[in-house]
Amino acid sequence: MEILRAEHVSYKYQSKYQTVEAVKDVSCAFEQGKFYAIVGESGSGKSTFLSLLAGLDQPSEGTIYMQGESLRDMDRDAYRLNRASVVYQAFHLFPLLTAQENVMLPLEFKKMRKKEAAGRARQLLQRVGLESRICRQFPKMMSGGEQQRVAIARAVASGGEIILADEPTGNLDSENEEKVVSLLKELAHQDGYTVIVITHNGRVADEADHVFRMKDGRMEQTR
Ligand SMILES: Nc1ncnc2c1ncn2[C@@H]1O[C@H](COP(=O)(O)OP(=O)(O)O)[C@@H](O)[C@H]1O
Ligand SMILES: [Mg+2]
Repeated sequence: MEILRAEHVSYKYQSKYQTVEAVKDVSCAFEQGKFYAIVGESGSGKSTFLSLLAGLDQPSEGTIYMQGESLRDMDRDAYRLNRASVVYQAFHLFPLLTAQENVMLPLEFKKMRKKEAAGRARQLLQRVGLESRICRQFPKMMSGGEQQRVAIARAVASGGEIILADEPTGNLDSENEEKVVSLLKELAHQDGYTVIVITHNGRVADEADHVFRMKDGRMEQTR
């Protein structure tokens, strides 16, 4: 079942002195429950395209549809809060909050009661394979792989059906890379999330159901 579609999407960065067309006439579709990789050289437009899928920005031209509805016509704050979450290379956890508190944030933001949110956060941290002692730890006491799994648990906590990740293993050693990739794959295949990962890592792309390649802002499907 198709969940997300880009139709003739372009994006231009415009400044006083120059225009950069970072995404050029991209059309592609993503199905529910699949694990996608987007590969391509640095500067080819991957992060820009992901931010469009995440609703962080609007295409200059073309349209992104979520289950047939244009993101332009949607409340994009609600889309970001309820439908699509982003995981970054540098984890972006809040340093003064524990793992559990980081995961509780989107739940409390959605007005879940604190006690319930705490329980759900513990469950999610367990789901991403973290020991219960991690719950009370602060990000700086965790390894990169642990921090990334907390960030993924937080993305899952927000409850959306789409997980977008920009180089999620870029800061990880190969052992943690493997753990994070198999977790993302499980979230797609077992839990039904649509997972879209930007990566320059061939091993990560090998695990994907489908691979898209970006080149100079254009997109081609390679597998
Ligand atoms: N904020 C920005 N302002 C102007 N140009 C940008 C900005 N962000 C990215 N670009 C340009 O857009 C193009 C695509 O960048 P990006 O989407 O970050 O590529 P990738 O993620 O594949 O490395 C590059 O030429 C980059 O220099
Ligand atoms: Mg990038």
